[in-house]
Amino acid sequence: MKYLLGIDLGTSGTKTVLFDTEGKVIASSTVEYPLYQPKNGWAEQDPDDWWRAACTTISSVIAESGVDAGDIAGVSLSGQMHGLVLTDENGNALRKSILWCDGRTGDECAEITEKVGKDRLIAISANPALTGFTAGKILWVRKHEPETYAKACHILLPKDYVRLRLTGEYFSEMSDASGTNLLDVPNRCWSQEILKALDINPDLMPPLLESCDKAGCITAEAAALTGLKEGTIVAAGAADNMAAAVGTGVAAPGKALTTIGTSGVVFAHSKTVQIDPAGRVHTFCAAVPGEYTVMSCTLAAGLSLKWYRDTFCKAEIEAAAEMGKDPYILMNEEAEQSPIGANRLMFTPYLMGERSPLLDSNARGCFVGLSAIHTRKDCLRAVMEGVMYSQRQNLDVLRNMNVLPDDMVACGGGAKSPFWRQMMSDIYMMPVKTTVNTEGPALGAAILAGVAAGIFTDIPSACEALVKSKEPLQPDEARHSEYEKVFNIYKKVYPGLKDVFADLAALDA
Ligand code: XUL
Repeated sequence: MKYLLGIDLGTSGTKTVLFDTEGKVIASSTVEYPLYQPKNGWAEQDPDDWWRAACTTISSVIAESGVDAGDIAGVSLSGQMHGLVLTDENGNALRKSILWCDGRTGDECAEITEKVGKDRLIAISANPALTGFTAGKILWVRKHEPETYAKACHILLPKDYVRLRLTGEYFSEMSDASGTNLLDVPNRCWSQEILKALDINPDLMPPLLESCDKAGCITAEAAALTGLKEGTIVAAGAADNMAAAVGTGVAAPGKALTTIGTSGVVFAHSKTVQIDPAGRVHTFCAAVPGEYTVMSCTLAAGLSLKWYRDTFCKAEIEAAAEMGKDPYILMNEEAEQSPIGANRLMFTPYLMGERSPLLDSNARGCFVGLSAIHTRKDCLRAVMEGVMYSQRQNLDVLRNMNVLPDDMVACGGGAKSPFWRQMMSDIYMMPVKTTVNTEGPALGAAILAGVAAGIFTDIPSACEALVKSKEPLQPDEARHSEYEKVFNIYKKVYPGLKDVFADLAALDA
């Protein structure tokens, strides 16, 4: 029997899962690590925390499973996107990584747009300059920490750093490189034009692979630290959203997924590059070689409900602890008691500013329509509806680009809620399904490892064989038209408050 190992390097922790070649989970282990927020709006992690978490979780799944490490045919990674890792000539990280949710680079993004030109940047990198993306972070370190930048020999993304520690080889791959603003996305190579305009030395950029290419083998040193066998094949891997797509079978046109995780993502597969000229949604390389994805990112999806739970649901947290239940189950039961539209209460989930489709880091969350009749039940329902209206607004951007998915999978922690999934189906007016195996990104990484190791011929056929779906929830026409009335009002909130948000942000300064 052969096995495949998927390492999912997330923001809250790293989860490593050992699968058999039929996609069955054999063992799983998660280690969390801190998120450093040295200033309001900044977010950093220590790359060596990621490496330690990878070593601990790999050793633990091997020990727990009792599997002979020699039977693990391949290893691969899924990683949080956009984070900047600078290393010296020996591959040592020179500073903490600046993460996808760090918003410090507004000035640098303006500089990138000015130097490259807005339209040219979107035509080449398929995205506007965004604070979450990597290029602005490189310019920020060069400007604010010139002595660190002077020592930098390699620019890597989070999972590329962990793969370097496993294999000793410097590589990036197309899906993650798409989130740097430095990749020529249509041509799948580093853009010499952008690198030149920004005066970034091209020698700092690692060679590029496709996600299912072999990126090296486990070194003797990594073998000693992880329990893996020296010489085990390591595949390049993919960005977390593209790995989740593989792990949920979204690898052909028409297929799409909606993630309700910390962030929310609407992701559709496409054979060809399709770019929104306004840059409201991202165009990235898919993990499937030569293919693409169009994707939105709602910055605070599950995070909005988590914020509400931690701030206002102490009673539910305590009651759930006594009942041995998850507080989210009680919160769902309460939300379900409020009608569609939450008795005329709306919520905008812009707690971290908003990326898609607003591209406005000043935007903020609001309850709109609060009245003295409202209870926590209405507020909970409004939060859950607000997250889904945001996802629907992004789905509409995709639909307007003629990206028309007809097969929608729900994934991420929020998709565990049948109530939220039914709301998604009703608001989208399309069937919404889930997969039997819920380890999306880790399974996606394991499939990429299986292709690199020659166990599977290619990604789409491996998805066909390994990813099984459950019966979809069906939309209800009557509920859809009720939601539609509220959604049409929801869409007016941001334009109405845009200037208020800007004034508030100026107050903070
Ligand atoms: C995507 C994005 C997030 C991170 C989360 O553009 O910023 O989904 O990848 O890990």
